[in-house]
Order: sequence, then C-alpha cells, then structure tokens
Amino acid sequence: MNFKLKIWRQRNAKFRGKLVNYEVRDISPDTSFLEMLDILNEDLLRAGGEPVAFDSDCREGICGTCALTVNGEAHGPDHPGAVCELYMRKFRDGETITVEPFRVGAFPMVKDLVVDRTSARAGSAPEANSILVPKHNADIAMEAAACIGCGACAAACPNGSAMLFAAAKVSHLASLPQGGPERERRALKMVQVMDEQGFGNCTNTYECEAVCPAKISASFIAKLNREYASAQFRQRLGE
Ligand code: SF4
Ligand code: FES
Repeated sequence: MNFKLKIWRQRNAKFRGKLVNYEVRDISPDTSFLEMLDILNEDLLRAGGEPVAFDSDCREGICGTCALTVNGEAHGPDHPGAVCELYMRKFRDGETITVEPFRVGAFPMVKDLVVDRTSARAGSAPEANSILVPKHNADIAMEAAACIGCGACAAACPNGSAMLFAAAKVSHLASLPQGGPERERRALKMVQVMDEQGFGNCTNTYECEAVCPAKISASFIAKLNREYASAQFRQRLGE
C-alpha cells in the first residue's frame, strides 16, 4: 500500500509548526501505524533529514504513552484502541493521512507529535493485599483501573476536558478500601488540579467515551461529580 502523509512538524513550543507532506510506499496492510512512522523515519534519516518525533513505549495498548491525532481523531479511526494498535489495513491504498499531536491547551508542545501530558499521568494502582473487596466494588474498580492515562479523552473533547480520566482515577480508588483514607481529598484535589492546568469543563458531548482505548464509560463522570459534591459538603462541615 502507498500513502500520502501530512505530518505536523514543529521544532519546539517557541517555533510555529506546520503540516509537511511525505510519502511512504510498499507498506504491508499488516504494518502498524507506528511501524509505518518508523519506516518513514528510516527513509528520512537515510536522506539526511530529521526524523519525526512521536511517543510510544509498549506498543500493545497498555502503557498510554502513544498519543496521535490521525485524520482528526484521537488515536485514529479504529476505536476502541490506542494508536499503537492501529493497522494500515484500516486505510485505503493511496489515502492521504493527516497526523497531528493531541491538541489540548493543557498539553504543551514539546516537538512534532510529542506534547507534555504529565498533567494527565497518574500513579499505578495500590498493590493487591489481603483486604477483602466486595465483588461489585472490585468490578467497578477494575473497569475504572483500565484507564491508561493517555489523554485522548481531553484531546477529543471540544472543551479540552480531562473529566473522563479524572473520573476513572477517582472512581477506581473510591471503590477500594485502600483508597478510603484520602477519598475526599483526592476528589477535591484532582478537580482543583484540572482547573489549574487549564483543562475545560465537561458539557456531556461524549467524545471522550468514543475515543477512549480502555472503554471507560462516561457514567464514571457522574460518579466523580457525586464524589466531588460529597467531599465539598464534608469540607464545609469541617469534617
Ligand atoms: S479515560 Fe480513556 S482516553 Fe482518557 S486517559 Fe484514560 S484511557 Fe485515555
Ligand atoms: S505505546 Fe503503550 S499504549 Fe500505545
């Protein structure tokens, strides 16, 4: 398969960026999208050019490191799935594909397709231990813990809201006894930090749920709102 690519190139946040045209040829349909970018980079290096910077690590949809907007969609057209799980067979032979970084005000530009998403990364789950967890709570915690912290929800949201990510983190820990001691403080702090970092508000567009590679349900946002309201109430009572 052959493809025309329009890729966002930007030296760093101080320079203006632009879409630059490239071509890749003889790409197997079973090549992953990131492998296709690797092939392009090898071609660029051979020609003495500068490779395109992009993030990846596990390339198995687990770590949340990859983050590309492909043809205007966070993680590309194959939902649910991270862009490292996207294959070239999803595109038409000869298609022009536009590749841009996640565009969120709270994710500052680093270089080309790399943005700083540290504001959307979170620590790992507490270690399993001997505290018994009711099955219903364990199921909710497992569902919410699937969030890989990729930031696609914020990139897809017209308001640049990171509510789905925050909702997954807060719901995960609020469902487990291990998360109990800091439950209220966590809900208040996460919302405060989202506001400080410049993420927008949720207006129920559901774009986040549509692109989430971990299939996090937007219903968790209602849970976050409940956790936040309850934490605020207790704070006012001085508890
Ligand atoms: S909620 Fe989904 S889209 Fe948002 S950071 Fe987590 S895995 Fe990524
Ligand atoms: S590189 Fe780890 S999820 Fe894509």
